[in-house]
Amino acid sequence: MKRFYLFLLLLTSGYLLPPASAQSVRWHEIHPGIWKGTVGKPDAYDLLKAADTEPSSTLKKLKKADFPLNNEDISVEVKNGKTYLRFPLERNEQLYGFGLNFQTIHQRGRIMQLHADHYGKSDNGRTHAPVPFYVSSLGYGVFVNSAKYIDVYAGSSVRKDSRNAPEVQDRNTDKNWQAHPYSDAVEMLVPAEGIELYVFAGPKPVNAIERFNLLSGGGCLPPRWGLGFTQRVNRLYNEEQVKAEAKAFSDKGYPLDFIGLEPGWQSKSYPCTFEWDQIRFPNPEKFVKEMDAVGVKINLWTNPYVSPDASIYSKIKPYTASNTVWNGIVPDLSMPEARKILFGQFEKEHVKIGVSGYKIDEVDGFDTYLWPDVATFPSGHTAEQLRQTYGLLVQKYSYDMFRKNNSRTYGLVRGSNAGGSSFPYVIYNDNYSHEDFITALINSGYSGVLWTPEVRASKTSEEWLRRFQTVCFSPMAMINAWASSTQPWTFPDVAEQVKDMAQLRMRMMPYWYSTFAKYHYEGTPPFRGMNLEEGFGMEINKEKTPTNLEENPYEEATAKEVKNQYMAGEYLLVAPLFTGQTSRKVILPKGKWYDFYTGKFAGEGEVITVTPGLSKIPVFVKDGGIIPMMPALLHAPKANEKVDLEIRYYGKKQAAVSSLYDDDGETFAYENNRYTWRELKVESRNGVLRGTISAPEKDKPNTIGRVTWHFMTN
Ligand code: GAL
Repeated sequence: MKRFYLFLLLLTSGYLLPPASAQSVRWHEIHPGIWKGTVGKPDAYDLLKAADTEPSSTLKKLKKADFPLNNEDISVEVKNGKTYLRFPLERNEQLYGFGLNFQTIHQRGRIMQLHADHYGKSDNGRTHAPVPFYVSSLGYGVFVNSAKYIDVYAGSSVRKDSRNAPEVQDRNTDKNWQAHPYSDAVEMLVPAEGIELYVFAGPKPVNAIERFNLLSGGGCLPPRWGLGFTQRVNRLYNEEQVKAEAKAFSDKGYPLDFIGLEPGWQSKSYPCTFEWDQIRFPNPEKFVKEMDAVGVKINLWTNPYVSPDASIYSKIKPYTASNTVWNGIVPDLSMPEARKILFGQFEKEHVKIGVSGYKIDEVDGFDTYLWPDVATFPSGHTAEQLRQTYGLLVQKYSYDMFRKNNSRTYGLVRGSNAGGSSFPYVIYNDNYSHEDFITALINSGYSGVLWTPEVRASKTSEEWLRRFQTVCFSPMAMINAWASSTQPWTFPDVAEQVKDMAQLRMRMMPYWYSTFAKYHYEGTPPFRGMNLEEGFGMEINKEKTPTNLEENPYEEATAKEVKNQYMAGEYLLVAPLFTGQTSRKVILPKGKWYDFYTGKFAGEGEVITVTPGLSKIPVFVKDGGIIPMMPALLHAPKANEKVDLEIRYYGKKQAAVSSLYDDDGETFAYENNRYTWRELKVESRNGVLRGTISAPEKDKPNTIGRVTWHFMTN
């Protein structure tokens, strides 16, 4: 009897319970340099299932790699219905990613809960794209494929069983006492009884990101017109006002490729009918065709919340959530029935008459507007799971609709997540800090998403021009005048400078288009942080005492993040100025760099100070940079239209090669091999630099007219 009580005591004290033991993960190399591991019973619905994309065929061509971590240092434990994850963290390591952050780039030491939401002015994990992926400066990446809110402790806590536990110091007497001693683990908590994990090899950090993007089909390939200019007009504009807006752009010589209509095109909005307002747009089909004839496509704002006055209301009602958003019913887009009704309506009302794309609003969050976590959905997926994936679902199924119609799209969305890199959508928000916009642009490259630093309104002409300059060096060149009705020439004293910038954006279209093709086929983020650039390191910052990370592991983590300059495409370093600044410092990575506008040598591996004047945004070109440009057209070239190229070469390297992508620019024919890469080559003959372009391939699209080379550096 006594024994029995002892047994009971031990049992209730937890002593005899099977030890909640950490499991080691069995990894399978599913593509060269990509490992998948599954522990416990992961949720049936996850981010990759929501995105439902095919891995890129480029993965087959990648080199085999060694597993980049010591598997013994990875631990996964399933306890009380939750999964505890631990990944190692070296002393000299920095972490990037964990979604679309707006104020921080170095994520080491940070605590967040990844949670789809509108950015609320703090990087706490609540953001438009709470992507559970991080990349390490040591050249590997980790992805947690879960559609739950994930708690992240990115090296913020020291475990008592750590093999690297720091020496305990006394705050009273020891000058070396640290408030945040070295933590050797990234720990995460996932509210699920198991998890699917992915590890990506480098060798360089950018290669781990490329692999992550390629796993979901690579990056998106926008149509050429998507890289031109877009203006979003006042929310209540009617058809005549929209036409007049397009005419004003063309009369004044400002480029324009698509106009975005804001809520007023719909008969009712918040909640939406998805039907044209018959007073403002009496004949939408004719209107869209007429706009197309003058080279301007139409993009439609919408949110997915269905008005009782929508014709699809009663049909879609059985497939909607328990709770409404702005009194609209919420389609459960994880159900094919709901998708068929909603996107069937979009196809019939908009896509079939030539609408080019959407701005899909309000799919990110704002707790007070969105469905609450207690809401239920008919699919049985939880409110939390739908919140984490709703942005992916609207992108995936609207994109499928355009693919079905063999017409590429490029649009806007306010929410996304891991798995969405191949969807042609750019994230935006209601925040309006120029500085935060640039930090977000940098962070987008770490998370497989795109972000636009749109220009909306400005207090001064200086601010207008400075914001406009960064818009021209971003994934979508957008003015969002939905509330302000601003136009590029609204500030007359800088109207000409704005026009020059807009024309530069257009002239650079061949460069932007090839940059996006590299995103699509190779997974390389088109806009990236400096930390991904080879030759960029804190050690070249002459203003700081050189740092030995072995001796002082906190130095890099606490060092100032570089949030105000970034890489655009293969060769360009962009260093924007913000209102009030007349000069700034630019960190040039190792190797020679040249001024984009003049071709003059700018520096190498050093910090320079530039005073560019108001009309210029400082841009530098890497040594050997080949920049293909075209004339400053008012609209992107149409499918298969030939354009002449001016190819610029920077630096004095005696040999360089680059590649120029070409296809029809509008359809999905490229998915059936209807594309080509033309080789751009610079060589020295008898001491004179010469450039050549490879011959067009037989039976492949060829939009390249006359080619002239311009050697920018004398
Ligand atoms: C907001 C959106 C704005 C604008 C507005 C129209 O939610 O972020 O860009 O579209 O809706 O009502």
